[in-house]
Amino acid sequence: MSDSIASVAIVAASSMYLSSLSYAKQLRRTVFTLPLAIIGCTAFVVLRPRFSLTLTSSASASLLEQIVDLLKASSLSPRLAYGLGDVLGLLLLGGVTTYASSFLSLVKGAVRDFPAFVKNVKEGGFALIKDLPVVKKELDKECAKAELGFEKDLKTESRKIGVQLSVLPSKGLAHADILNLMREQTRKENVKWEQGKVSGAVYHGIKEHQDLLNEAFGLYSIANPLHPDIWPSAMKFEAEIVAMTASLVNADGAITSLCGCTSSGGTESIILAIKAHRDFYCQKYNIKNPEMIACTSCHAAVDKACDLMSIKLIRVPMDPNTYKMDLFAVRRAIGPNTIMMYASAPSYPQGVIDPIQELGALAVHHDIGLHVDCCLGGFVLPFAKRLGFKVAEFDFSVAGVSSMSLDTHKFGYALKGASVVLYRTKELRQAQYFCYADWTGGLYTTPSLAGSRSAGLISQCWASLVAMGEEGYLMHTKSIWETTARIATGIRSIAGIKLIGEAEAMIVCFASDASVKGLNVYSVADGMSARGWSLNSLQNPPCVHLCVTVRHVGHEKEFLDDLSASVEEVKEAVKSGAPLSGKAAIYGMTSGLPAGPVNSLLRVYNDVVLKL
Ligand SMILES: Cc1ncc(COP(=O)(O)O)c(C=O)c1O
Repeated sequence: MSDSIASVAIVAASSMYLSSLSYAKQLRRTVFTLPLAIIGCTAFVVLRPRFSLTLTSSASASLLEQIVDLLKASSLSPRLAYGLGDVLGLLLLGGVTTYASSFLSLVKGAVRDFPAFVKNVKEGGFALIKDLPVVKKELDKECAKAELGFEKDLKTESRKIGVQLSVLPSKGLAHADILNLMREQTRKENVKWEQGKVSGAVYHGIKEHQDLLNEAFGLYSIANPLHPDIWPSAMKFEAEIVAMTASLVNADGAITSLCGCTSSGGTESIILAIKAHRDFYCQKYNIKNPEMIACTSCHAAVDKACDLMSIKLIRVPMDPNTYKMDLFAVRRAIGPNTIMMYASAPSYPQGVIDPIQELGALAVHHDIGLHVDCCLGGFVLPFAKRLGFKVAEFDFSVAGVSSMSLDTHKFGYALKGASVVLYRTKELRQAQYFCYADWTGGLYTTPSLAGSRSAGLISQCWASLVAMGEEGYLMHTKSIWETTARIATGIRSIAGIKLIGEAEAMIVCFASDASVKGLNVYSVADGMSARGWSLNSLQNPPCVHLCVTVRHVGHEKEFLDDLSASVEEVKEAVKSGAPLSGKAAIYGMTSGLPAGPVNSLLRVYNDVVLKL
């Protein structure tokens, strides 16, 4: 009996020891490591005699006593047996402390963010039961239902366009027919954004600018920047796009090492920046399991990057009042494996600028990276600052900012497929490159993710920047900034909804307020859709936003009138007790579910998009 208890104890102690090892790893590189080691050694030396004494003199046979007896019985000298007993006792203590501290942090997590805790518990529960036949059957049933719904919403129109082609036409179609079909479709499909009713998506779209970009693209549509020897002008344009973009955020030109690279869009720029930080800091600190810290408001591209590169993403909450990254939580999240922090200027959901200065100070203190996602703000904030509008610090003038992403295909007014990622140092940019010296296809290197690219994307982007010039960007920024302010003021006066975030850049985000019980903000978005608007519905918290672009300038009254009417309509529906429908019903359903089944529905969505 005592033998088996002892074996169990030894196994338990070893497993606890292993878990305490990972705990010790967490403590590595923190300032507490040394004092803790000193305290631990002192405690061991002081407590050891007492510990041994307790073991030998205790009347009741404790677990450790039994282990010591067992060790003695296996012909170990008593001294060695007690010594091993001590070590096991300490490991046991260490293990218990580790589990207690994990339990405490679990409780603390639950207290700090109860909804997230509940979601995690549900997630864990779902992972346990998801393969049970009954659960699988229910999930399959829901997915089939969702597929029908998505097909109705997405495919009803698209299936009416031209003829359905599932194989190549046996004989090529006439050029005129191809172009007529496209002209006809785009004429109808472009109406919504041309009327200024779409949030974000089309940032400029004025005809002369569009014509210039299309022509610039056409001239280089066949060129490939992978071959700079053949198209040196494409290489020149690319280098100049990077330099011109860098000049907007370069602390009055003070950083001579500032450098960068073009990419296909915000998502790629973010993935590249995270890759560069991963390679650079993992090598610098010999980190095997890199972690990065971002706010829950960060763009989904960060999750995508971490998923692709097996980086642990530690999400910290937003401050519940300002919707900015919670600095207290960031400080607590920094650990020995942290390679970087990620902040937004402004964030996609609420359009707030995270506290870049404070984060920069943390980056300097811990010598880790700080990426500023300026994908939305890159071609607005620098000009707003020059125009004298109040703009929080966000660029390389803040010490500690190691990289930034700025999308030329958003407020840079270029066509889709163009963005810039910038680095404070050349070493960091070098960590972004992919180099393969042994490829059988020859020496191979690419700066970004793509292999072959269209130089048309570069030529049209260069054309956009130089056609706009400082004057053009200043003019558009002024009108966008003023339009945003007018819309934000209007929203403040609509009873039933409230502004969230302070519309400090070009995003106005609103949620339902407490004055009307049961008013669902997604129903308001549905009301706006019925009036021809296409706004963005967001979650955690439930809210809706309009990303103000050149298209909305002059349309603010129309927007506010429609918004007031939509809110009134929802108030009436609440009074009459009408059931939720549309987005309100969808978000109502998904917000209560763990991510697992919702992700299954999202996969079905992609399946439908790719279906004929
Ligand atoms: C703040 C922010 N970062 C990144 C992105 C991703 O950009 P893209 O869609 O070009 O990949 C967006 C897109 O809206 C964004 O708003």
